[in-house]
Parts: sequence; C-alpha cells; structure tokens
Amino acid sequence: MGFLQIQLINLLAILLIITSSKSSLTATPPNFPIALNPNCIDHCGNISIPYPFGTTKECYRSSDFLVTCNQTFDQLKVFLRNSSIEITDISLDGQLRVLQFIAHDCYNQNGTRAFRNNPWIRLAKSRSLTVNNTANKFTVIGCDTYGFIFGRRLDRNYTTGCTAMCYAKDDLIKGSCTGSGCCQTSIPEQVWRVNLSLGSYHNLSHVWSFDKCSYAFLVEESAFSFSPENLTNLRNVEKLPMVVDWAIGNGTCEEAQMNASSYACKNVNSKCYKPRNGYGYRCSCSEGYQGNPYLIDGCQDVNECEDPYLNNCTDIKLCKNTNGSFHCACPKGYHGDGRKDGRGCIRGESLAFKLAAGISLGIIVLLLVAYWLHLELKRRRHTKMRQMFFLQNGGMLLQEKISRRERPSNTTTIFSELELQNATNNFDNNMIIGKGGFGIVYKGFLPDNRIVAIKKSKEVDPNQIEQFINEVIILSQINHRNVVKLLGCCLETQIPLLVYEFINNGTLFEHIHNEAKAHFFSWEIRLKIAAETANVLAYLHSIASTPIIHRDVKSANILLDQTLTAKVSDFGASRLVPLDQTQLSTLVHGTLGYLDPEYMQTNLLTEKSDVYSFGVVLVELLTGKKVLSFDRPEEERGLANLFLSVMKKDQLFEILEENVMREGNKKQLTKVAMVAKSCLHVKGDERPCMKEVAMELEGLVLGEKHPWVQTGHDEEVKVFLLEGEFSGAINVGEDNSTSIDFDSAKDHVMLSTMGGGR
Ligand SMILES: *[C@@H]1O[C@H](CO)[C@@H](O)[C@H](O)[C@H]1NC(C)=O
Ligand SMILES: *[C@@H]1O[C@H](CO)[C@@H](O)[C@H](O)[C@H]1NC(C)=O
Ligand SMILES: *[C@@H]1O[C@H](CO)[C@@H](O)[C@H](O)[C@H]1NC(C)=O
Ligand SMILES: *[C@@H]1O[C@H](CO)[C@@H](O)[C@H](O)[C@H]1NC(C)=O
Ligand SMILES: *[C@@H]1O[C@H](CO)[C@@H](O)[C@H](O)[C@H]1NC(C)=O
Ligand SMILES: *[C@@H]1O[C@H](CO)[C@@H](O)[C@H](O)[C@H]1NC(C)=O
Ligand SMILES: *[C@@H]1O[C@H](CO)[C@@H](O)[C@H](O)[C@H]1NC(C)=O
Ligand SMILES: *[C@@H]1O[C@H](CO)[C@@H](O)[C@H](O)[C@H]1NC(C)=O
Ligand SMILES: *[C@@H]1O[C@H](CO)[C@@H](O)[C@H](O)[C@H]1NC(C)=O
Ligand SMILES: *[C@@H]1O[C@H](CO)[C@@H](O)[C@H](O)[C@H]1NC(C)=O
Ligand SMILES: *[C@@H]1O[C@H](CO)[C@@H](O)[C@H](O)[C@H]1NC(C)=O
Ligand SMILES: *[C@@H]1O[C@H](CO)[C@@H](O)[C@H](O)[C@H]1NC(C)=O
Repeated sequence: MGFLQIQLINLLAILLIITSSKSSLTATPPNFPIALNPNCIDHCGNISIPYPFGTTKECYRSSDFLVTCNQTFDQLKVFLRNSSIEITDISLDGQLRVLQFIAHDCYNQNGTRAFRNNPWIRLAKSRSLTVNNTANKFTVIGCDTYGFIFGRRLDRNYTTGCTAMCYAKDDLIKGSCTGSGCCQTSIPEQVWRVNLSLGSYHNLSHVWSFDKCSYAFLVEESAFSFSPENLTNLRNVEKLPMVVDWAIGNGTCEEAQMNASSYACKNVNSKCYKPRNGYGYRCSCSEGYQGNPYLIDGCQDVNECEDPYLNNCTDIKLCKNTNGSFHCACPKGYHGDGRKDGRGCIRGESLAFKLAAGISLGIIVLLLVAYWLHLELKRRRHTKMRQMFFLQNGGMLLQEKISRRERPSNTTTIFSELELQNATNNFDNNMIIGKGGFGIVYKGFLPDNRIVAIKKSKEVDPNQIEQFINEVIILSQINHRNVVKLLGCCLETQIPLLVYEFINNGTLFEHIHNEAKAHFFSWEIRLKIAAETANVLAYLHSIASTPIIHRDVKSANILLDQTLTAKVSDFGASRLVPLDQTQLSTLVHGTLGYLDPEYMQTNLLTEKSDVYSFGVVLVELLTGKKVLSFDRPEEERGLANLFLSVMKKDQLFEILEENVMREGNKKQLTKVAMVAKSCLHVKGDERPCMKEVAMELEGLVLGEKHPWVQTGHDEEVKVFLLEGEFSGAINVGEDNSTSIDFDSAKDHVMLSTMGGGR
C-alpha cells in the first residue's frame, strides 16, 4: 500500500517535471523585438512578420520583402507582395513556407481536355527569393503524364521534368513515387523563377477508368506522401506547401560589408554568412544570443541557465549566465568544469586553489620568519645595549674587584636584568616600598626566597648614575652589621640597579615621628641606636686608605630591622676622601636641617659635617621634634638652633620627649645632650670627632645597662625593671646590645685587616 503510494507520487513528480520542461522548451516567447519599430505590424494572425519583411514601405527592407496581411473570409492571411502566393511561416533562418498552386490537366472520356492550368510563380522582382532545393521536390502525378518545370537559374533558362506512367491501378504503390503514377525530381540551387507545364501522351484515354487528371507541383517533400487515391482526390486541392529561401541582396558578405549603410547585419552580436542556396547573404545572431540579427538591438543574450537543454551543468543551480555564454561552477570542495559532457566536478581542490593556498602559506611563513628576525634583532640590540650599559656602568671594574676579593663574595653579586624583572614582577607599582631621594625602591623576591630591596632611579640623569656607582663602590668596601648590606647590582640597565638586604621595620624617622610608634620607642633603644649610628660613622671615617663621608646622615636614612638594630643606608651622596686630602671642595649636598652650616658656607667637606648631622639626629632622638618646623618662631625653625638656645637657657628638660623624660635618668640625658651640643658646634674644628662621640655614647649605653650599679636612682630603676618585665623588647635589646659590642669590636679588627690588605 505504502509502496504503491510512493510509486504513484514518483510518477506524478516525473510527469510534472516532463510537462514543465516541455513547456519551458516550447514557450520561448519572442520577448525581443522582431519588427523594425513598434509602429510596424509584426504579426498577422498567428504568423509573425520579422524584419526585413514588413507590410509597409517603412517597415520592410526592400519591396522584395513586402507582405500583405489580408482578411479572407474569417481568416487573416499573409501574402507575398500583392500576389496570390500565401505565406504560412516566415523564419529568420532564411526560409518562407508558401502555398503554391498545383498544375492540373484533366480529360473527358472521349479524350477531350476537360480542365487545365499551368501556374507560374514569380517569387520576386530581384533574386532575393529562391526555391529551396533540398526541402522541395518537383512532383508529377498521373498514369499517362509528363511534367516540366521551366525556370530561371543564374541568368539562363532552366528546365527539368519527369514522366509518370501506369497501366493498372494495381501498379500504384502507396508511399512510392518512383515513376508508377508518381514521379519526383530534385531541382538545383538558385532557381528563382518557375513555370510548371503538364502534358499527356494519349489524353489519359487508356487509364481514364481510374485516372482522369494529371497533376504537377513543387512541394515540400515532407508534406506530401503519394497515395493511389491522390489520382482523384488531388483534383480538389488548389495549393500545396513549398519552401522558399530568402537572402539579402545579391553579393557576398565581404561585398555587402563595404557599404555599411546598406549592410543588413546591424547588430554587434550578429554575423554574416553565405547561404548554400540563393544569391545574397544572411545574418544570424552570434552563438549564445537569439533574436532578430537584422535589427540594431535585435540579438539578445540567451540565458542558458534557465534551460537545461542549453547548458550541460551538472548542477543547474551552479550555472552562471554570461553575455553570450554561461559558466558551470562546482560545489565547495570540488573542482572541474562542472559539465556533464566535460570533466564534471571532482572532489578536492583545484590546482589554482592549491597554488593560491601554497602562495598564501608561503607568505605567512615569510612573515613569521620576518617577525622572528625582527624579534631576534631586537633581542640582540637589547643584549648589546645591556653590555654597553654594563661597560659604561663600570661593570668590568666592579667584576674585577669582586673577583679579586679573597672572601667568598656572597656579599656582592652581579644580577642580570631578567633576574630582577622576575623578582619585582617586572617592576610592578605594587612592589614599590619607597621613593627615596633619587630613586624608587622596590621590594623583590629572589628565587632562593631572599627578600631584597631594589633601588632604581626614576629619571635618566648621568649624575644619578654617578651616585649609584659611588654607592656600589663604597658599599662594596664596607661590611658592617649597622650598614645596609649591598647584595649586588645590575649594570645591564641604563641606570644601574642596586640590590640590598631588605630591612623591614621602617626608618628611624618613622619611629621618632609616628605617634603610635614613638610611644613604644624607649629611651634605651634610642640611645642604643644613637650609639650604633655613631659607631658606623666612626668606622666610615676611620677606614685607613680612603675614609668615607656619608654626607646625608639623617633619621630617614637610618633603617631599623626587626630587632630595632640601626642600619645606615643611602650612600649615594657619599664621598671617598683620599688620605692626602682632608678637605674636599664639592657642591653642597645633604638635607636641609641636617646640613652643616660651615659646609654650606665654605663648600668644604670634612668628616665634621657628618658629626654635625649626627648631632641633629641625636637631638631628634632626645626631643622627638621635627628637624624643620614652620610652626616654630623663625630663629627656632631649625631643630639645632632650637636645641642650642634651649641649652643656653638651661631648659633642656622642657623640650625632651615624654618617654625619654620618663625613662632616662637626668644625668645620662644631660650627658647625651652635651654630646649633641658639642656635635652642633658651628665651627667644625671644635666638634668632637665621630670616634669620640661613639665612645661616649657606648659608655653611656653600658652605664644604662646596669642602672642598679649607680646609686640614688631607685625609683627610676624600679620603673625600668617594671617595664622590662612587661616588654620583651628590652630583653632582646639587651642581647643585641652585647652583640653590638662584640660586632663592633670585630668590625674594628676587620677594618684594620681590610685596610692593610689594600
Ligand atoms: C496558424 O494557425 C493555424 C490554424 O489556427 C494553424 O493551422 C497553423 O499551423 C498556425 N501557424 C503557425 C505558424 O503557428
Ligand atoms: C485583399 O482583400 C481585398 C478585399 O478583401 C481584395 O480586394 C484584395 O485583392 C486582396 N488582396 C490580396 C493580395 O489578396
Ligand atoms: C501588384 O502591383 C503591381 C504594381 O506594384 C501591379 O503591376 C500588379 O498588377 C499587381 N498584381 C496584383 C496581382 O495585384
Ligand atoms: C466529349 O464529351 C463531352 C462531355 O462528356 C462533351 O461535352 C463533348 O461534346 C464531347 N466531344 C465530342 C467530340 O464528342
Ligand atoms: C487529345 O486532346 C487534344 C486537346 O484536347 C486534342 O487536340 C487531341 O486530338 C486529342 N487526342 C486524341 C487522341 O484524342
Ligand atoms: C512563365 O509563364 C509566363 C506566363 O505564361 C511567361 O510570361 C513566362 O515567360 C514564363 N517563364 C518561363 C521561364 O517559362
Ligand atoms: C527562355 O524562356 C523564355 C520563355 O519561356 C523564352 O522566351 C526565351 O527565348 C528563352 N531563352 C532561351 C535562351 O532559350
Ligand atoms: C493523398 O491521398 C491521401 C489518401 O487519401 C490523403 O490523405 C492525402 O491528403 C492526399 N494528399 C494530398 C496532397 O491531398
Ligand atoms: C545582382 O547581380 C546581377 C549580376 O551579377 C546584376 O545584374 C543585378 O542587378 C544585381 N541585383 C542586385 C539587386 O544587386
Ligand atoms: C550604399 O547603399 C545605399 C543604400 O542602399 C546606396 O544608396 C548607396 O549608393 C550605396 N553605396 C555604395 C558605395 O554602394
Ligand atoms: C531548405 O529549407 C530547409 C528547412 O525547411 C533548410 O534546413 C535548408 O537549409 C534549406 N536549404 C537551403 C539550400 O537553403
Ligand atoms: C551537452 O552535451 C552534449 C553531449 O555531451 C553536446 O552534444 C551538447 O552540445 C552539449 N550542450 C551544450 C549546450 O554544451
């Protein structure tokens, strides 16, 4: 049941396709113009009248192509010129189908002629129309009959004919026209005028019983097939179809083309050809075009894609019409000509596609190689630059120095730029821990889990490079537990980077001036830090070969570690003083408030400048006051001046910091204040040297450590012990203090060995 239904549907579909394709084939509507202009009649009944034919002078090419459209009875008929030759079809291929009178010759029983006509056809005044020699046959019907055709061919007379005989009706064979009752003969080309003539040898007397008439006619062979009945029934037939060829003019194409105004093939897409029959030439539309080639706009493109009979594309949907032609495409992933009669479509890409793909791949590879080369060049240039910086930054010198050291140089390493980039997350802003006088300090993590501080200059300034180099050179000579250790440096960048041990507990400045921190910043610690700082400065000043002047001693440059041990930093401005020069003439360098007034005036740098600055730090520690404050009266803006004036008035205890006042014993505080005062002497010569200051302060630290040895301060001792019990920091401090002594002693020893080594 279901199978049957499917079959039925299939059949229906096939039928539909067949009918639709048939209709598309037959219905090629002449939507293109065929007449010369819209005013010309292009149809008469169902017969089209294409140019060069026309019904009026304005519409035909010459009078040879005049046709008449006439109403005869109830039918519209077309006639050649004003003749009685009826036209049933006009083809632009060069043919006319006309109805031609046939010749009759009929007799009575007694042998007298009953009826006769010998028609003649004058097709045209000129030789534009000729009898088609392949489609037509001269035919004679009868059993005692001869027929002639007289005509004009070229410029001469032309005659041919044939004889049809028979002796009994049985001699006649249906469909055979070979002489028995019917004879046929061909006619040559270029016959353009014909008369027909018919005769009988015996006036049909012996065959009259079955043949009373003879007939002769030129007929379209396919339109006539002999039948014995035709001996009688042709009597009532007046006309039979005949094919006439028509052509333009009288000469060849070449001759015609010489006169452009008379040349008939007006359309650009038309061509001229010489017909086999006839005297002139014909026009036809070029291949791929259809229409009337005798009109200027007559030939129009054929859309082959609309008609499956005109294109052989494997898929009609992929057919693309072009002017005069069409193109078959292949689906994606296939190649070929896409034609049923050609190579069709083959899976895979075409050679052109492969070529294009290859070329584009090549270009991509080329670009990649170029890019790689660019990167490589950049890398090399970068490396070269790093090497240049390395050299420029005194890398060789430093390397030499480091390698010459006897001690294993775990102290100074030369880092690569990459190592430091990795350590600081490519110098991320989040890693910034401080912006110093002339640089940014980043926190960094080395692969061996060490935390470091990396100092990098903000700007490109040759002076700053100098300062960095200075610092490297100085710090590489110093190894002191109270100096921030320089772990290494990186010379590959334009400005060298310095890598220090990371001191994580802030600066002395913070501890003094931050209220929260200051509260827990005991006098004992302050004194210890003062002693440590003094010790470091004394050490720097006493280095045998080249004493070092720090030049920027201030609370902000004294870092504190977890155990509140002082670490002096920032040796950027420091100066090495050769032995033979005790005074250096330099540009004034330092921080306002800490600056030695004598140095400011004379520009002469001595170790005593550091002493002055240290004095200010000492006062800062004692008073907890800012070094410069615009809240104070003008002459007391500088802390040093304020302190000196207070000392003069003997009002020391009025400006001491709260904690300091509470914790320190007055005698000790007074002693420290006296040290500070001596350090702040306007004349450098009258200031003590750093060694003296360090010894004095160390002595006081030792005294402070065993306060119970001293008598008369029981209450203070009690307070101290009480605080000591509650604050572990002091115990730590005590341990540290002992280690200070040990270390500083060691430093002194080391100092002398180092000096001697050099
Ligand atoms: C014109 O119509 C007649 C009858 O209607 C028909 O016999 C003839 O074949 C048609 N001619 C053409 C050219 O269609
Ligand atoms: C056309 O028809 C008219 C009258 O109907 C007639 O007078 C004329 O002779 C005819 N012409 C031809 C060529 O048949
Ligand atoms: C056709 O017209 C021509 C003049 O153009 C004339 O001489 C001739 O007799 C006419 N023939 C017929 C059949 O009317
Ligand atoms: C021949 O026959 C026809 C008609 O059949 C007649 O009209 C005619 O006169 C006859 N002629 C002779 C000479 O008998
Ligand atoms: C044949 O017909 C012609 C013309 O009608 C006539 O002159 C002739 O005598 C006839 N011949 C015979 C044998 O009847
Ligand atoms: C054809 O017949 C006509 C009239 O009978 C005559 O004028 C003409 O010369 C003939 N042509 C030929 C080629 O015999
Ligand atoms: C050609 O035929 C015509 C008419 O039939 C005749 O008048 C003429 O003399 C013929 N010419 C020759 C050269 O035979
Ligand atoms: C010839 O005879 C056959 C049979 O009667 C007929 O069909 C045909 O139409 C006749 N031919 C012509 C041209 O009349
Ligand atoms: C055709 O050519 C012949 C001779 O070649 C000439 O006599 C005749 O006039 C020409 N006719 C036309 C229409 O050109
Ligand atoms: C060209 O053709 C036109 C019109 O047919 C004609 O008047 C003219 O004389 C021709 N010129 C030549 C050179 O044949
Ligand atoms: C005769 O007419 C037929 C069409 O009926 C055509 O195909 C053929 O080419 C013509 N012959 C010549 C010699 O033009
Ligand atoms: C289509 O193919 C057939 C045979 O393969 C060929 O004869 C015909 O000319 C082709 N048609 C077109 C429009 O190319």
